Amino acid sequence: MNVLVTGGAGFIGSHTCVTLLQAGHAVIVADNLCNSKSETVEKIKLITGKELIFYQIDVTAETEVHRIFASHPIDGVIHFAGFKAVCESVEKPLAYYYNNTVSTMLLAKCCLQYGVKKFIFSSSATVYGENRVPFAETMELLPAANPYGETKVISERILKDTARANPAFAVSLLRYFNPVGAHESGLIGESPQGIPNNLMPYITQVAAGKLEKLNIFGDDYPTPDGTGVRDYIHVTDLAEGHVSALDQLSEGVHIYNLGTGAGTSVLQLVKAFEEANGIKVPYEIVSRRAGDIASCYADAAKAKRELGWTAKRGIIDMCRDAWLFEKSLSS
Ligand code: NAD
Ligand code: UFG
Repeated sequence: MNVLVTGGAGFIGSHTCVTLLQAGHAVIVADNLCNSKSETVEKIKLITGKELIFYQIDVTAETEVHRIFASHPIDGVIHFAGFKAVCESVEKPLAYYYNNTVSTMLLAKCCLQYGVKKFIFSSSATVYGENRVPFAETMELLPAANPYGETKVISERILKDTARANPAFAVSLLRYFNPVGAHESGLIGESPQGIPNNLMPYITQVAAGKLEKLNIFGDDYPTPDGTGVRDYIHVTDLAEGHVSALDQLSEGVHIYNLGTGAGTSVLQLVKAFEEANGIKVPYEIVSRRAGDIASCYADAAKAKRELGWTAKRGIIDMCRDAWLFEKSLSS
C-alpha cells in the first residue's frame, strides 16, 4: 500500500514508518517538524535501507494537503500529527483544538474526495478518563480533564460520523497507552524539547546526569506501592500494532486499545531501569501532579482477538532501548 503518514518524523510516527517500510509498504511523510527533526527521516532510511517521500508541510494547510493527495495514489492515511502536551493544552486550548481537530477534518475530507478508503487515527487512553481499570473499548468515554484529551474525543467523533455517512470509508481508532522505549538500533527515539513531562525521558535524562533527580509525583495513590500505575508499551510494539490494523482494516469503525494489559508503578519502572542498565536513578517523592489518575492500563484482549496483535517486548526491553537512545544523543 501507499501510506500517507502525518507526523511521521515524530516519536511514534518514525517507528511506524520503519515498520511499514520493513513490511513492504511505500511511505509518504507529511510533517512540519514543529516537534521533530528532518534527520529522523534520514535515520528511517538508514535503518530500513529504503526510500520514502517527505513533505515538510502543515497538515492544517488546505492547499498543501490537497497537493499531496493529488500527486500520489494513496491507499491509506495514518494520522499522527498533532500537539500532545497535556499542560500546554490547558494554557493554549485554541492552538490544540485547531491543530488536532482541523487536521483530522481536512485529511478525512481529502480521503473522501480522492477515494482513499483507509484511515488510522492516533487516539489515547486519556479518552477513558476516570473509568475503572482495565479500560475496555466498550466503556463510555468520560469527559477528559484537559483540552488535549478533548481533541482526541472530538477527533474520534468526527471520524465515526464520517464513516457512518460514507460506508466505504474504513476507520481505525487506536487508543495508545504509554509509549516508551526506542528503536533497538538506538538511532531513533523520543527527544522532547526542554524538561521532559513524561516519566521515561525524565528517567533517562537523570541517568545521563542532565537532571539531578526524578520527582515522583505522589506515593499515596490507591496502588500497591502508592505511586501511579501505567501501561507502558514499547514503541516498536505500538508501531507493529499500526501495521496490523492497516493490513486488516475493513469498512466501518474499529476501536482498539494498544497496550500490554499490565500495569507498572513509577517505583517499579525506576527499579527496572536500574536493573536493565546498571545505573542508579536518584529520586524524591513530591506531591501529586494535578490531573493525574492513580491507575491506567488496558484490557488488551480485543486487539489480540481481532488483529492477532499483542505487545511482545517487556519493561526491561523498554528501559534498555530508551537508555540506548539517550546515550546516542550525547555520543
Ligand atoms: P510527536 O510530537 O513526537 O510527533 C508528532 C509529530 O507531528 C511531530 O513530528 C510534529 O512535528 C508533527 N506535527 C504536529 N502538528 C503538525 C501539523 N499541523 N502539521 C504537520 N506536522 C505536525 O508525538 P508522538 O508521541 O509521536 O505522538 C503521535 C500522536 O500520538 C499524537 O497525535 C499524540 O497525541 C498521540 N499519542 C501520543 C501518546 C504519547 O504518550 N506519546 C499517547 C497517546 C496518543
Ligand atoms: N511521573 C512522575 N514523575 C515525572 C513524570 C511522571 O512521577 O517526572 C508519573 C506520573 O505521575 C504518572 C506516571 O509517572 O503516574 C506516568 O506519567 P507520564 O507523564 O509519563 O504519562 P501520563 O500517563 O501522565 O500521560 C501519557 C501521555 C498522555 C496520554 C496518556 C495516555 O503523556 O498524552 O499517557 O495514557 F494521554
